[in-house]
Amino acid sequence: MASLSKREKGLIELRRRVKSCRQCQLGETRTNVVFGSGSPESRLMFVGEAPGYHEDQQGIPFVGQAGKLLEKMLARIGLSREEVYIANVLKCRPPDNRDPQTAEIELCRVFLEEQISIIEPLVVCSLGNFATKLLTGLPDGISRVHGNPQEMPGHSGMKLFPVYHPAAALYTPSNLRSLEADFDKLPALLGLSQTQALVETGNVKSDASVEINGGKPEPEQLGLF
Ligand code: URA
Repeated sequence: MASLSKREKGLIELRRRVKSCRQCQLGETRTNVVFGSGSPESRLMFVGEAPGYHEDQQGIPFVGQAGKLLEKMLARIGLSREEVYIANVLKCRPPDNRDPQTAEIELCRVFLEEQISIIEPLVVCSLGNFATKLLTGLPDGISRVHGNPQEMPGHSGMKLFPVYHPAAALYTPSNLRSLEADFDKLPALLGLSQTQALVETGNVKSDASVEINGGKPEPEQLGLF
Protein backbone atom coordinates (compact mmCIF):
# COMPACT_ATOMS: atom_id res chain seq x y z
CA MET A 1 0.00 0.00 0.00
CA ALA A 2 1.37 3.40 -0.99
CA SER A 3 2.54 5.47 1.94
CA LEU A 4 0.15 8.06 3.26
CA SER A 5 0.60 11.74 2.53
CA LYS A 6 1.05 14.26 5.32
CA ARG A 7 -2.53 15.42 4.83
CA GLU A 8 -3.91 11.90 4.96
CA LYS A 9 -2.03 11.18 8.16
CA GLY A 10 -3.19 14.45 9.69
CA LEU A 11 -6.83 13.74 8.86
CA ILE A 12 -6.70 10.17 10.15
CA GLU A 13 -5.37 11.39 13.48
CA LEU A 14 -7.89 14.22 13.70
CA ARG A 15 -10.75 11.93 12.72
CA ARG A 16 -9.83 9.59 15.55
CA ARG A 17 -10.15 12.44 18.03
CA VAL A 18 -13.43 13.71 16.60
CA LYS A 19 -14.96 10.23 16.69
CA SER A 20 -14.49 10.02 20.43
CA CYS A 21 -15.69 13.57 21.11
CA ARG A 22 -18.33 13.89 23.82
CA GLN A 23 -17.89 17.59 24.51
CA CYS A 24 -21.49 18.52 23.81
CA GLN A 25 -24.90 16.90 24.00
CA LEU A 26 -24.87 15.99 20.30
CA GLY A 27 -22.39 13.26 21.16
CA GLU A 28 -25.22 11.49 23.01
CA THR A 29 -27.77 11.58 20.19
CA ARG A 30 -25.68 11.06 17.05
CA THR A 31 -25.63 7.76 15.16
CA ASN A 32 -22.33 8.52 13.43
CA VAL A 33 -19.82 11.32 13.54
CA VAL A 34 -19.76 12.98 10.12
CA PHE A 35 -16.14 13.99 9.88
CA GLY A 36 -15.73 14.86 6.20
CA SER A 37 -15.10 13.18 2.88
CA GLY A 38 -13.28 13.68 -0.39
CA SER A 39 -9.73 14.28 -1.46
CA PRO A 40 -7.37 15.51 1.28
CA GLU A 41 -5.20 16.92 -1.52
CA SER A 42 -7.93 18.97 -3.16
CA ARG A 43 -7.50 22.67 -3.71
CA LEU A 44 -11.20 23.18 -3.13
CA MET A 45 -12.97 22.58 0.17
CA PHE A 46 -16.66 23.01 1.02
CA VAL A 47 -18.00 23.72 4.48
CA GLY A 48 -21.68 23.12 5.20
CA GLU A 49 -23.71 23.53 8.36
CA ALA A 50 -24.34 20.22 10.09
CA PRO A 51 -25.28 16.64 9.25
CA GLY A 52 -28.94 15.84 8.66
CA TYR A 53 -30.74 12.52 9.02
CA HIS A 54 -29.10 10.73 6.09
CA GLU A 55 -25.65 12.05 6.87
CA ASP A 56 -26.01 10.91 10.48
CA GLN A 57 -27.11 7.45 9.32
CA GLN A 58 -24.27 7.05 6.83
CA GLY A 59 -21.46 9.04 8.44
CA ILE A 60 -20.88 10.94 5.17
CA PRO A 61 -21.61 14.65 4.54
CA PHE A 62 -24.13 15.82 1.96
CA VAL A 63 -25.73 12.54 0.93
CA GLY A 64 -29.35 13.77 1.04
CA GLN A 65 -31.27 16.12 -1.25
CA ALA A 66 -28.96 19.07 -0.62
CA GLY A 67 -26.03 16.80 -1.39
CA LYS A 68 -27.53 15.81 -4.72
CA LEU A 69 -27.79 19.47 -5.64
CA LEU A 70 -24.21 20.07 -4.49
CA GLU A 71 -23.09 17.24 -6.78
CA LYS A 72 -25.04 18.80 -9.63
CA MET A 73 -23.35 22.15 -9.05
CA LEU A 74 -19.96 20.43 -9.02
CA ALA A 75 -20.75 18.61 -12.27
CA ARG A 76 -21.62 21.98 -13.76
CA ILE A 77 -17.96 22.98 -13.42
CA GLY A 78 -16.58 19.58 -14.36
CA LEU A 79 -15.94 18.26 -10.86
CA SER A 80 -17.11 15.32 -8.80
CA ARG A 81 -17.41 15.11 -5.02
CA GLU A 82 -14.41 12.78 -4.89
CA GLU A 83 -12.23 15.58 -6.24
CA VAL A 84 -13.07 18.13 -3.57
CA TYR A 85 -13.16 17.95 0.21
CA ILE A 86 -16.50 18.35 2.01
CA ALA A 87 -16.92 19.06 5.72
CA ASN A 88 -19.37 20.77 8.07
CA VAL A 89 -19.29 23.28 10.90
CA LEU A 90 -20.77 20.63 13.23
CA LYS A 91 -19.66 17.02 13.02
CA CYS A 92 -22.77 15.63 14.70
CA ARG A 93 -26.44 15.97 13.79
CA PRO A 94 -28.58 18.37 15.82
CA PRO A 95 -31.79 16.54 16.78
CA ASP A 96 -34.70 17.19 14.41
CA ASN A 97 -32.32 19.19 12.22
CA ARG A 98 -32.57 22.23 14.48
CA ASP A 99 -30.07 25.05 14.02
CA PRO A 100 -26.61 24.59 15.52
CA GLN A 101 -26.32 26.30 18.91
CA THR A 102 -23.60 28.82 19.65
CA ALA A 103 -22.01 26.62 22.31
CA GLU A 104 -21.94 23.63 19.93
CA ILE A 105 -20.29 25.72 17.21
CA GLU A 106 -17.68 27.05 19.65
CA LEU A 107 -16.79 23.54 20.83
CA CYS A 108 -16.68 22.05 17.34
CA ARG A 109 -14.91 24.86 15.47
CA VAL A 110 -11.44 23.67 16.47
CA PHE A 111 -11.99 20.51 14.46
CA LEU A 112 -12.97 22.45 11.33
CA GLU A 113 -10.05 24.81 11.80
CA GLU A 114 -7.69 21.84 12.03
CA GLN A 115 -9.21 20.30 8.91
CA ILE A 116 -8.62 23.51 7.00
CA SER A 117 -5.04 23.80 8.29
CA ILE A 118 -4.26 20.20 7.31
CA ILE A 119 -5.81 20.37 3.83
CA GLU A 120 -4.65 23.93 3.09
CA PRO A 121 -6.97 24.36 0.10
CA LEU A 122 -6.69 27.32 -2.21
CA VAL A 123 -10.39 28.06 -1.86
CA VAL A 124 -12.81 27.33 0.99
CA CYS A 125 -16.38 27.60 -0.20
CA SER A 126 -18.72 28.23 2.72
CA LEU A 127 -22.26 26.96 2.14
CA GLY A 128 -24.85 29.17 3.79
CA ASN A 129 -25.02 31.39 6.84
CA PHE A 130 -23.54 29.26 9.60
CA ALA A 131 -20.31 28.36 7.80
CA THR A 132 -19.96 31.85 6.35
CA LYS A 133 -20.44 33.71 9.64
CA LEU A 134 -18.11 31.35 11.45
CA LEU A 135 -15.33 31.59 8.87
CA THR A 136 -15.57 35.32 8.23
CA GLY A 137 -16.03 36.11 11.92
CA LEU A 138 -18.64 38.66 10.80
CA PRO A 139 -22.41 38.85 11.22
CA ASP A 140 -23.08 39.60 7.54
CA GLY A 141 -25.60 37.15 6.12
CA ILE A 142 -25.18 35.02 3.02
CA SER A 143 -27.53 37.08 0.86
CA ARG A 144 -25.16 40.06 1.33
CA VAL A 145 -21.84 38.33 0.85
CA HIS A 146 -22.40 35.39 -1.50
CA GLY A 147 -20.34 35.31 -4.67
CA ASN A 148 -17.67 37.67 -3.34
CA PRO A 149 -14.31 36.04 -2.69
CA GLN A 150 -12.36 37.37 0.26
CA GLU A 151 -9.14 36.58 2.09
CA MET A 152 -9.58 33.73 4.52
CA PRO A 153 -8.96 35.14 8.01
CA GLY A 154 -5.85 33.59 9.53
CA HIS A 155 -4.71 31.90 6.29
CA SER A 156 -2.68 34.06 3.94
CA GLY A 157 -3.12 33.16 0.29
CA MET A 158 -6.30 31.18 0.95
CA LYS A 159 -9.62 32.48 -0.35
CA LEU A 160 -13.00 32.22 1.30
CA PHE A 161 -15.91 32.09 -1.13
CA PRO A 162 -19.41 32.20 0.40
CA VAL A 163 -22.35 30.78 -1.57
CA TYR A 164 -25.93 29.89 -0.73
CA HIS A 165 -26.47 26.60 1.03
CA PRO A 166 -27.80 24.07 -1.51
CA ALA A 167 -30.78 23.38 0.79
CA ALA A 168 -31.76 27.04 0.42
CA ALA A 169 -31.71 26.63 -3.36
CA LEU A 170 -33.75 23.44 -3.54
CA TYR A 171 -37.13 25.15 -3.64
CA THR A 172 -36.24 28.78 -4.29
CA PRO A 173 -35.43 29.43 -7.96
CA SER A 174 -33.73 32.80 -7.34
CA ASN A 175 -31.35 31.19 -4.84
CA LEU A 176 -30.67 28.40 -7.31
CA ARG A 177 -29.75 30.93 -9.99
CA SER A 178 -27.39 32.68 -7.56
CA LEU A 179 -25.83 29.37 -6.59
CA GLU A 180 -25.25 28.49 -10.23
CA ALA A 181 -23.76 31.88 -11.02
CA ASP A 182 -21.47 31.67 -7.98
CA PHE A 183 -20.32 28.15 -8.85
CA ASP A 184 -19.46 29.35 -12.33
CA LYS A 185 -16.88 31.67 -10.74
CA LEU A 186 -15.05 28.83 -9.01
CA PRO A 187 -12.79 27.57 -11.84
CA ALA A 188 -11.35 31.07 -12.32
CA LEU A 189 -10.90 31.49 -8.57
CA LEU A 190 -8.94 28.26 -8.55
CA GLY A 191 -6.85 29.59 -11.40
CA LEU A 192 -8.15 26.97 -13.78
CA SER A 193 -10.02 27.00 -17.03
CA GLN A 194 -13.30 25.10 -16.99
CA THR A 195 -11.81 22.22 -18.98
CA GLN A 196 -8.71 21.99 -16.80
CA ALA A 197 -10.65 21.98 -13.57
CA LEU A 198 -11.52 18.31 -13.56
CA VAL A 199 -7.96 17.19 -14.12
CA GLU A 200 -6.09 19.65 -12.00
CA THR A 201 -8.28 20.31 -9.01
CA GLY A 202 -8.98 16.71 -8.21
CA ASN A 203 -5.93 15.08 -6.88
CA VAL A 204 -4.24 11.92 -5.87
CA LYS A 205 -6.65 10.14 -3.54
CA SER A 206 -10.33 10.10 -2.90
CA ASP A 207 -12.64 8.15 -0.66
CA ALA A 208 -14.81 7.06 -3.56
CA SER A 209 -14.87 3.67 -1.89
CA VAL A 210 -17.08 5.14 0.81
CA GLU A 211 -19.66 6.30 -1.71
CA ILE A 212 -19.40 3.07 -3.70
CA ASN A 213 -20.05 1.24 -0.49
CA GLY A 214 -23.68 2.15 -1.00
CA GLY A 215 -24.06 4.51 1.88
CA LYS A 216 -23.50 1.94 4.61
CA PRO A 217 -21.81 3.23 7.77
CA GLU A 218 -18.23 3.58 6.74
CA PRO A 219 -15.84 0.84 7.73
CA GLU A 220 -12.94 2.14 9.78
CA GLN A 221 -10.37 1.83 7.00
CA LEU A 222 -12.45 3.08 4.07
CA GLY A 223 -13.77 6.34 5.39
CA LEU A 224 -10.39 7.49 6.51
CA PHE A 225 -10.59 11.07 5.46
N1 URA B 1 -26.55 20.08 5.08
C1 URA B 1 -25.35 20.38 5.60
O1 URA B 1 -25.09 21.52 5.92
N2 URA B 1 -24.46 19.42 5.74
C2 URA B 1 -24.69 18.17 5.38
O2 URA B 1 -23.80 17.34 5.53
C3 URA B 1 -25.94 17.88 4.83
C4 URA B 1 -26.86 18.84 4.70
